[in-house]
Amino acid sequence: MYVIVLLVHSWLRWAVLAAGLVAVFRGGSREETGGKWFTILLDVQVTLGLLLYFVLSPITGAALDDFGGAMKIPQLRFFAVEHVFGMVIGTALAHIGRARVRKAPSHRRGRTAAIFYGLALIAILASIPWPGMPAGRPLFKW
Ligand code: HEM
Repeated sequence: MYVIVLLVHSWLRWAVLAAGLVAVFRGGSREETGGKWFTILLDVQVTLGLLLYFVLSPITGAALDDFGGAMKIPQLRFFAVEHVFGMVIGTALAHIGRARVRKAPSHRRGRTAAIFYGLALIAILASIPWPGMPAGRPLFKW
């Protein structure tokens, strides 16, 4: 179960990033499809992430057993704190952005989408365990 959820979580990142890009550039359009898919895929990804965090992952499991000790180990700290924190901020920005885009007058929708979805995407990109980082993971997991 752990292996499957982690695999899906790893691949779904690409769908989230692609939807985020569409949302930044086209999220202000009338049908607002970009923002819709960005927030939906993010919500699925966050749900899988929370499942990993609190139930399946031995890494965050170990960190939750000894949180203070985990803060001294970069790989544990990354998944226990930095990854989750950045992703929650990114997800919140995407949702706030979507609510704002829907309320905005049509001449401001494009700009509102670019700002909020852009900031969300930056927070998400900064929180992914890219290869080369202490907690780095492969780009494409098999
Ligand atoms: C609150 C939200 C999230 C939580 C709690 C969370 C939690 C986790 C945990 C615990 C792991 C490590 C699991 C392990 O190796 O045992 C992980 C890995 C990962 N997460 Fe998240 N995550 C969240 C959101 C996201 C989002 C939004 C993305 C990308 C859009 C993402 C991308 C990744 C990637 C790429 C990995 C590495 C997967 C691999 O091993 O290849 N996560 N996440």
